[in-house]
Amino acid sequence: MTGASRGIGREIAGRLAEEGFDLTLSARGTDALREAAAECAKRGATQVRTVSADMAVEDDVRQVAEAHRTAYGRLDLLVLSAGVGSAAPLGSYPVHRFDKQFAVNVRAPFLLIDACMELLRSTAPARVVAVSSITGRAPEPGLAAYGASKAALTALCEAVNTEASADGVAATAICPGYVDTDMSAWNHESVPPSEMITSSDIAELVIAVTRLSSRAVVPYLPVVRTGSALWRA
Ligand SMILES: NC(=O)c1ccc[n+]([C@@H]2O[C@H](COP(=O)([O-])OP(=O)(O)OC[C@H]3O[C@@H](n4cnc5c(N)ncnc54)[C@H](OP(=O)(O)O)[C@@H]3O)[C@@H](O)[C@H]2O)c1
Repeated sequence: MTGASRGIGREIAGRLAEEGFDLTLSARGTDALREAAAECAKRGATQVRTVSADMAVEDDVRQVAEAHRTAYGRLDLLVLSAGVGSAAPLGSYPVHRFDKQFAVNVRAPFLLIDACMELLRSTAPARVVAVSSITGRAPEPGLAAYGASKAALTALCEAVNTEASADGVAATAICPGYVDTDMSAWNHESVPPSEMITSSDIAELVIAVTRLSSRAVVPYLPVVRTGSALWRA
């Protein structure tokens, strides 16, 4: 799984460990990855491997797939949680920020799904779960590039279902509003952490999806905060 060292991904990794999954954890920072792996071992995983990789670099992305295939020879669940976001208004949006968000949030998931598809098919029933965003379903001011990247990620999950669900490989895009992690800390003045969704809520949904029969396909799951503006982040 990607984005496993912090935030939502780290909590998903811990819950998967409790469920008895053997894991390959990936992110860039090696120290945080090591800590996440140690936590997964404490929470019940018998085998945890780490692969330090930058999702903006194609060779790194392919290396994650290859390291997992070599170690385990099967893949029951591919979790895509690595992601970056950057807010700025349209009119002077720096294109390098757009490119970075599309590289990490869309291109890497595409490459990883592509590189893992043979293994997913041979393991089937198998699942892909991507942490997308509610901004990919309902746009928000200032988040045009981020929202567009998450809309593409959600569409990618839907495409996986049309292409591979009949063979037992189904994908789900979880689409939350603000979740209380490092990534959303910039917005505490507008949305206090106590009003944000928890990483544990998202991890619970991942586990729920893994418990469904292979007949059930869940293309996307919106998860929103309380309040009257239902589809805002
Ligand atoms: N927090 C929210 O409000 C929220 C809401 C909706 C959706 N999401 C989505 O949920 C996912 C997880 O977000 P989070 O809140 O858990 O963020 P986070 O706490 O910032 O964690 C991001 C994770 O992704 C990894 N990552 C970032 N850039 C990377 C890169 N270039 N290559 C490899 N790994 C990279 C980070 O590790 P390294 O930095 O060590 O690489 C870290 O493990 C993201 O896709 C995000 O878009 C978040």
